[in-house]
Amino acid sequence: MRLTPLIGLFCASLLLAPLVHAETKAETSDQGHEKRIAWFREAKFGMFIHWGLYSIPAGEWQGKQVLGLGEWIMHNAPVPVKDYVKLADQFNPTQFDAEKIVQLAVDSGMKYIVITSKHHDGFAMYHSSVSKYNIYDATPFKRDPLKELADACAKHGIKFGFYYSQSQDWHEPNGAGNTADFGPDEKKDFDRYLTEKSEPQVKELLTHYGPVCLMWFDTPFMMTEERGSRFMRLVRSVQPNCLIDGRLSKEVHGDYVSTGDNVVPNKSMTEDWEVPATTNNTWGFRKDDTDWKSPGEIVFKLVDVASKGGNYLLNVGPTSAGVIPEHIQENLLTVGKWLKLNGDAIYGATKSPFGDEFGEYSASIKDHAGKPIFLPRTDWRCTTSKGKLFFTLFRKYYPRDGFEIPAFKTKVTQAYMLSDPEHTPLKIVVRDGVRCVQLPRSNPDPMAVTLCVELADDKVQL
Ligand code: GLC
Repeated sequence: MRLTPLIGLFCASLLLAPLVHAETKAETSDQGHEKRIAWFREAKFGMFIHWGLYSIPAGEWQGKQVLGLGEWIMHNAPVPVKDYVKLADQFNPTQFDAEKIVQLAVDSGMKYIVITSKHHDGFAMYHSSVSKYNIYDATPFKRDPLKELADACAKHGIKFGFYYSQSQDWHEPNGAGNTADFGPDEKKDFDRYLTEKSEPQVKELLTHYGPVCLMWFDTPFMMTEERGSRFMRLVRSVQPNCLIDGRLSKEVHGDYVSTGDNVVPNKSMTEDWEVPATTNNTWGFRKDDTDWKSPGEIVFKLVDVASKGGNYLLNVGPTSAGVIPEHIQENLLTVGKWLKLNGDAIYGATKSPFGDEFGEYSASIKDHAGKPIFLPRTDWRCTTSKGKLFFTLFRKYYPRDGFEIPAFKTKVTQAYMLSDPEHTPLKIVVRDGVRCVQLPRSNPDPMAVTLCVELADDKVQL
């Protein structure tokens, strides 16, 4: 059975509503920031991996479908701690192959991997000496998949980072979030949880897995300024080059803005930002969710995000055998093939100098809060790098009578399709004062094509 996208999104938005608004600032003041963030600005496209014990029930508990995100099953069912921990006895993902996963990321054009080291269920997916509730000590698997991934990433030149749920921990009496087993959060000794498990585990991760490109914190329940600062100092003291995402604490801003889940801003932003996104409607594997995004949808979102100055962190949820579902692997590989030809429009490219192409706010239609709704345009997006503008045209939008370049003052020296290895110059004609590039007669890729327009100057003058 297919989960309707709406149910998943509805549940996610209910749970995350307070967060989305909090995630709007990034720390840019300290001097290390520019150095830390440089790779991120180049990378643009990353693989998020949500993997844990929840991949065993995969959206179903005791024969009943549990709605919501796969990794939230313990909370949503709810499953008491004493029953959930038993999943560890059966967790033996022998088909897990770090090399294959990293190869998939490489072939899909992804430049960094961020994996759940401990999600809200409290189970560590690495060999932790802080808590025996981990994949090495508590399962028959007896391997450390995160070490294997770290090594494979180092070998393939892919950056590697950890998701870590710093505040919610449904396994611990003093962790946030599990009120069914442990009562209200306000009555808990939360600082004890932080100092005895969360902080020491973050330190372990930063100590034993080589260079960590990013610590991806999430759901900052009860993360006051003082608590957030403690984590910030910890990360900076052990690995000063490690980025911190935007969900550590409301008051303590990380290195960039994390938008809400699957939320792409309507317009471009001045700060660095990243959208965490799903390939279906869940993060952790659910057997009933096969609502995969097509390669064309993924390419559109990636280019849309890049043209607004952001990064796209796209999730896969391996099964309990340790395997990424075949269908989404294929879709990602198609995206990778497109990026092989058109990657100059993405990697290291910066946001659009224009903006009208994103769409506009409706003059008449309002949402339930009385705000004008945004009417997106989806014909094309623009990214730019030194002396070049890249116009990516999507799907049915292939103007056979010529692509009208938006107005700017800089002289255009030539134009060609990025996918054309010869860079055969395309004819540019001026019609009613508008420069128009004559595209090849037949559309070389109905999913998306990128037109490169070279300029006489490094930067476009509007
Ligand atoms: C939400 C969910 C969590 C998921 C995350 C990814 O915060 O609580 O399950 O890991 O989004 O962005």
